[in-house]
Amino acid sequence: MEANAEQQIAELARRFLPDVEGCLREAIAESDDLAPMMRYHLGWENLEGAPASGGGKALRPVLCLAACEMSGGDWRDALPAAAGLELVHNFSLVHDDIQDGDETRRGTPTLWRVHGVPAALTAGNAMRVVADRTADGLSARGTAPEVARGTIAELTRRYLEMIEGQYLDLSFEAAEHVSVSDYLDMIGRKTGALIESAMHMGALVATGDPATARGFGECGMRLGLAFQVRDDYLGVWGDPAFTGKAVGADIRRKKKSLPAVYLFDSVPDDERSWLEETYRAEEIEGERLDGVMAMLERLGGGPYVQRIAEEQAQLAVVAVDALDIAEESKQLLGAVAEFFATRDR
Ligand code: IPE
Ligand code: IPE
Ligand code: MG
Ligand code: MG
Repeated sequence: MEANAEQQIAELARRFLPDVEGCLREAIAESDDLAPMMRYHLGWENLEGAPASGGGKALRPVLCLAACEMSGGDWRDALPAAAGLELVHNFSLVHDDIQDGDETRRGTPTLWRVHGVPAALTAGNAMRVVADRTADGLSARGTAPEVARGTIAELTRRYLEMIEGQYLDLSFEAAEHVSVSDYLDMIGRKTGALIESAMHMGALVATGDPATARGFGECGMRLGLAFQVRDDYLGVWGDPAFTGKAVGADIRRKKKSLPAVYLFDSVPDDERSWLEETYRAEEIEGERLDGVMAMLERLGGGPYVQRIAEEQAQLAVVAVDALDIAEESKQLLGAVAEFFATRDR
């Protein structure tokens, strides 16, 4: 990857994120009792409640505000949508870590590991409500009421899709066969939908034009697919020092992420019963885990998954090309696509 792609995204983040964080802090302060758990999850505080500088990449708000600016708006107008979306995303992660039984996120213990499942569930639910309220602030910042309503409806529609995708993802764990097309449908909802909404909402706030917003949304959906396929790659072959998660975690838990979907599609006949038996166990551990990792290696699982990530990034570039925006903006979104398919963290 060119250093350039990451630098351009970092430059957008540098411009936008202080205001996004301001919005988030204001929103969270409304929820007294639960705010400390939210601040911990967001990486603003450590286990002792002291200020910390951790947290996520905030890619969704950055994309939302960038889409607003690229389509001719003042990015500050879209702040309530961007901050609301980041809260929806974080609510999904709090619950996802419980559902996936993951003990670390962003290099620190997950919220449920620290406070227990019931408290973490509650904090996640509260975060979702705070997200809705945050997005409600659009008209107070000058967005026409009708456009604000459309923007909020887009957020709600896409986060329902995200929840459906999450359900499919969990139900695939026990499914015998998941095809690549089932998989793509699932990740389009689980991850594509929120990234789609990021760009759709930014463009809608800027232009008030649903057709323009849909074009940006299409581009966000493709970016989201590339992003999740690369996430699946990192979930098996990522360096824990960068990903903040344990190595091989997705295989251990029998996630039907793309490496596993590929494995079931391409396992030689004489090894199929071994693989099926392995996946009947509660968890894949020890020699079985090593065996699955070796099989993936032998069958070229890594290069296959990476090729799909790059194919999706290429389709994102095609969607970007269809947008009526400055050449410079197209180049930047192209860099984002490349970064999504090649990132290490
Ligand atoms: C993680 O998303 C969940 C997925 C959809 C793959 P991010 O990688 O954007 O999470 P943070 O917020 O930057 O940690
Ligand atoms: C997270 O999916 C996406 C949602 C919460 C909807 P994953 O379970 O694949 O993501 P990570 O790898 O834990 O971040
Ligand atoms: Mg997870
Ligand atoms: Mg999950």
